Amino acid sequence: MKALVLYTLSLFLFCSASLADALTIYSYRHYESDVLLFDKFTEQTGIEVKVVKSKAGALLERLKAEGDQTPADILITSDAGRLHQAREAGVLQPLKSLFLEQRVPANLREPEGYWFGFTQRARVLVYAPDRVSEDELSSYEDLASAEWRGRLLVRSSANVYNQSLLSSMIDANGKQQALQWAKAVRQNMARTPQGSDRDQMRAVAAGLADVAIVNTYYLGLLANSDNQKDRAVAAQLKVFFPNQAARGTHVNVSGAGLVAGSDQVEAAQRFLEYLATDEAQLAFTGATYEYPVVSDIKWSPLLEQWGTFKADPISLARLGELNADAIRCFNQAGWE
Ligand SMILES: [Fe+2]
Repeated sequence: MKALVLYTLSLFLFCSASLADALTIYSYRHYESDVLLFDKFTEQTGIEVKVVKSKAGALLERLKAEGDQTPADILITSDAGRLHQAREAGVLQPLKSLFLEQRVPANLREPEGYWFGFTQRARVLVYAPDRVSEDELSSYEDLASAEWRGRLLVRSSANVYNQSLLSSMIDANGKQQALQWAKAVRQNMARTPQGSDRDQMRAVAAGLADVAIVNTYYLGLLANSDNQKDRAVAAQLKVFFPNQAARGTHVNVSGAGLVAGSDQVEAAQRFLEYLATDEAQLAFTGATYEYPVVSDIKWSPLLEQWGTFKADPISLARLGELNADAIRCFNQAGWE
């Protein structure tokens, strides 16, 4: 019996070792919780994970420059717009995985398997309830109306989150209407676009504006910050999910794809599949206040508190295709 156990154990170790000694992940995500999650993957598979963190643009440039010589096996980045850029740049290769096809909804992954969403976020409205009542809010489109003059905050259009939001509006309403919207929203801003999503919320809490467009997890991060001031900011704001009467709130993903130059496809596939397991999905929603992509995963209490909502079901790959149009539109609208 003992011999059999030893034999089985050595077979497992042999399999793991032959699969890959280590995977190299280029990641734009900068969460300590990701590292803890990757450690669990290593414990379970024996495959070491080396993470190289950098800005999204820098990682893409590096992958392009390294080509086939790249040490990277996996690229992790946020937003379908960026994932699409990576695919266009030729630095990803398609992966066929039945497990991922079953676990990740079709609209949250690239149809040919070039990338897969692993966490979801919604781009919502946050507002100061002492100056805005919930029934004044309805849709992204409504933010173009004159009643919001001088009352809005949104970050720069150079940010991919805004580009993907506008892509979804181009798809829904056409380019002309999207341009008119971008012009009007720019007119309604309380200041020239600057800072991060978190900075927009801090400014609303400080009374500079009444409504901001931000990604949900940033509110979660403020609410759970070590910094008491940031917790106070979150406590002053409420969340509104726009466009519930029609197509739904714009959602996007943080996602990953297999690097074109990887020579460890099998191990990389195991890693990508791991990100869609219940264990990984629960870790994401608990630690970074993102929504799971896999249905039936329990949300963290804060997300439960914000409530359920209808998400725009558009394929995120389509948003990637419209990214260049969205950038042109923002430039024409004079949205810095
Ligand atoms: Fe982000």
